[in-house]
Amino acid sequence: MGDMNEIFDLGSDALHGIEQRLGMSRRDYLQFCATLAVTMGLPKGAEAAVAKAIETSQRPSVIWLHFQECTGCSESLLRAEHPTLEKLILDVISLDYHETLMAAAGHQAEAARKDAMKAHKGKYVLVVEGAIPVKDNGIFCKIGGHTAIDLVKECAADAAAVIAIGSCASWGGMPSTGPNPTGASSVAEVLGKPVVTIPGCPPNPYNFLATVVHFLTFGKLPDVDKLGRPKFAYSRLIHENCERRAHFDAGRFAMEFGDAGHRQGYCLYKLGCKGPETYANCSTIGFGDAGENNWPVGCGHPCIGCSEKGVGFTKPIHQVASVINITPPQQYPRIVEEQGKGASFASAAALAALAGAAAGAAVMLTRNLGLSHAAEEAERAKAEGKSKDQAQV
Ligand code: SF4
Ligand code: F3S
Repeated sequence: MGDMNEIFDLGSDALHGIEQRLGMSRRDYLQFCATLAVTMGLPKGAEAAVAKAIETSQRPSVIWLHFQECTGCSESLLRAEHPTLEKLILDVISLDYHETLMAAAGHQAEAARKDAMKAHKGKYVLVVEGAIPVKDNGIFCKIGGHTAIDLVKECAADAAAVIAIGSCASWGGMPSTGPNPTGASSVAEVLGKPVVTIPGCPPNPYNFLATVVHFLTFGKLPDVDKLGRPKFAYSRLIHENCERRAHFDAGRFAMEFGDAGHRQGYCLYKLGCKGPETYANCSTIGFGDAGENNWPVGCGHPCIGCSEKGVGFTKPIHQVASVINITPPQQYPRIVEEQGKGASFASAAALAALAGAAAGAAVMLTRNLGLSHAAEEAERAKAEGKSKDQAQV
């Protein structure tokens, strides 16, 4: 692993032109690299290797296919706000074929795909968004006269890596639920071999970018679980790192939307939160860097388990979840910050990188759930005209 000082020292070489190229300061760029390193669960110092890889590696060619989907996965990448993430994504990779973003249409678009496959044979990354309908020989989804089945097989044949982005491509997602009239299937099912999956509806753009940057930095894709999910993002239940977990353990639940418990940020388990049976890092990295708590539970809605096969779009939203892991953690996040507001995701992640801490632990420290018991008592005593000391007796 490199050293952060080394990267700063290399400013005129390794980071030369980074401000112009990315439209961001070096400090923001290095903070961004630290965020990615933490997202991947890499140890202290890895941010320097990540920075170097992004700066010096040849951008991998990416062919991005769209099948049965809503384009929400692409939208989530493009709507990310952390220092122009979409710009970084488009800088880190060479997006040579993407039906939604490319200017070409018709025969030109087909030619662009063929050209990219030929020019980068054996080296390009194939990203698939959307499920693949297999019923009736796949006639429900055709592009340029080819079925999705034929297209994914053709493009995967010479790819260096295949990434299924979003729940639809990862396990069938919403199109595969219910009677599944089109036979919507995952990429792995159609190719008959495992692929890297980044489920979610939508998936978090950091997880995609971290996967690609891992490929750039180490020349291989990250470790995955048996469902093909990168372990850095999907090895923990949402419930394990949820900012409301202390309320769950203390038996404080919102019973209805808008009730006193809901307004005070109590646990959403009894409203059907599927965090206890959903593996993802939504609770630790949030979405879009649009401020603290920018994820479903943080916004006051139960997790619906959108990333988890058999949970999302399958279990009724208000059905209570199976609690897979009931072992209490070693320690709980603080319920309240003593002073001020929480840090931003980026600064917390960068801090975590420098401290070598896990992303979850860092971000948990930034959450502000409301008043702790002691603070509640103090507030009550104040209202009743007593001192804090008297209240605690
Ligand atoms: Fe958080 Fe949901 Fe678990 Fe409650 S049940 S602690 S809201 S993940
Ligand atoms: Fe989806 Fe639940 Fe995360 S609904 S976005 S897996 S919090």
